[in-house]
Amino acid sequence: MKERFLVNGGSRLEGLVRVGGAKNSVLKLMAAALLAEGTTTLRNCPEILDVPLMRDVLVGLGCDVDIDGDVVRISTPAEVSPHADFEAVRQFRASVAVLGPLVARCTEAYVALPGGDAIGSRPLDMHQSGLEKLGATTHIEHGAVVARADKLRGADIKLDFPSVGATENIITAAVLADGRTTLDNAAREPEIVDLCNMLNAMGAQITGAGTSCITVDGVEQLHPTEHTVIGDRIVAGTWAYAAAMTQGDITVTGAAPGHLHLALAKLKLSGAEIETYDNGFRVQMRQRPKAVDYQTLPFPGFPTDLQPMAIALSAVADGVSVITENVFEARFRFVDEMLRLGAEANVDGHHVMIRGVGTLSSTDVWSSDIRAGAGLVLAGLVADGVTTVHEVHHIDRGYPEFVENLNRLGADVKRVNE
Ligand code: UD1
Repeated sequence: MKERFLVNGGSRLEGLVRVGGAKNSVLKLMAAALLAEGTTTLRNCPEILDVPLMRDVLVGLGCDVDIDGDVVRISTPAEVSPHADFEAVRQFRASVAVLGPLVARCTEAYVALPGGDAIGSRPLDMHQSGLEKLGATTHIEHGAVVARADKLRGADIKLDFPSVGATENIITAAVLADGRTTLDNAAREPEIVDLCNMLNAMGAQITGAGTSCITVDGVEQLHPTEHTVIGDRIVAGTWAYAAAMTQGDITVTGAAPGHLHLALAKLKLSGAEIETYDNGFRVQMRQRPKAVDYQTLPFPGFPTDLQPMAIALSAVADGVSVITENVFEARFRFVDEMLRLGAEANVDGHHVMIRGVGTLSSTDVWSSDIRAGAGLVLAGLVADGVTTVHEVHHIDRGYPEFVENLNRLGADVKRVNE
C-alpha cells in the first residue's frame, strides 16, 4: 500500500532524539558475515526495510538470518552459494556488497546488477578493476557481474576516485587473499572504518582504515564475531538540519559528532549554536539561518547524502547559497520539487544557486530517493499549510520511526494511505 506524509508546517522542533545504527554500515557488515563460517551477531541495527532485504540476499546464498529488534544474527555455512540472483538484489543497491565476500570464498561469484538509480549512474568499473588486480576475471553477463578466481593474490591498487562501495568490495575480497594488498585513494568514510574494525575482530589484518591508504594482509580464514554498528551520521545530520531550519533546539544521541564535522561546522556558519558530546550533539538556532555555500565531497567533505538537507535549509536562509554536487550527477532532480514549494533556485550543471525566501509554500511533492524524501519533509516543516510528500517508501528505507520522532519533537506530521 502506497503511503504519503502530510506535513503541517510552522512548528519549531525541540527535544531529544536517538539515532540507531547506520544503514550504510549494517548492510556491508551483514555481507561481510559471509566471510566466516558460524554465527556473526550485529547489534544496534536500524529497523529499516533494507535489513530484511539483505537478509533475503544472504538466505539465498545459504545463510540463516535472524532479526530480533536491533540484533541481527547471521549463521554462515561452510560452503556458501556463489549466486545472488536478480530477484533478491534488485530492490537495493547495497546488495552489491556481497561481491567481495563471494569472490573471496568461492571460485566464482555471480551477483545480479541492481539496475537504475534516481541519484545518478552507479557503475561498478572500479569494483571490477580492483578485483581484477587481485587476480579475478570479471565480466557482465546476462545482467550480472561474474567474477572468477581460483585464488586471489594481494596487489597494489589505486582507485581513480575514493568510491565507498569499491573500497568495501576490494577489502572484503583481499582479507582472504594470499599476501598483502595496498589500496591507495581508498574511501575514508566512517562506515569503512566500521567494516574494517569488524573484519579485524574476525581475524583480518587491516591497517589504515579511515585514511586514504589501506593495507590488508591476507589470512587463511576468519571467524565470526559480535559487533555493534556505528550510529547513522546521515540520520543524525538530518536532525541537525531540522533543528536549524525550524529555529529549534534538538539534542541528538547515538552518533559521533566527529562523523559530521563539516556538516555541523556549516550549521555554525549559518548561525547555529552547536555543543558536542561523546556520542551526540545539540543544535540550537535562535535566528533565521544565514546562507552558506556547500560542495559535496567524499568524507571528510560534506556528504552528498545531506545535500538535499543543505538545499532545503538554503531555500529559507537569509541570502544566496551556491551548492555544488561532486559525487552523484542526478541528485539535483530534487530541486524541481523544491521549486514547486516556492524555492528560488537555478540549476547550472552540477551547481545550484538558491536565494532564500522567508517561507515555502505548501503543495504536493514526490520523493525520488531516501535523502530527497527526507529533504522534502524538512522543507514541509517550514512551508505554510500542509505539504503532502508522496512515495514515502523511499524515506522509510533510511529513517526508522521518522514520523514518530518528528512528532515527538513537536512537528505535526501524519502518515496516510494514498
Ligand atoms: C555509498 C552510499 C551512498 C553515498 C555514497 C557516497 C551505501 C549503501 N551507499 O554509495 O549513500 O551517497 O556512498 O558517500 O553505502 N563510481 C564509479 N565507478 C565505480 C564506483 C563508483 O564511477 O566502480 C562513482 C559513482 O557513480 C559515484 C561516485 O563514484 O558518482 C561515488 O560512488 P560510491 O562512493 O561508490 O558510492 P556508493 O558506494 O554507491
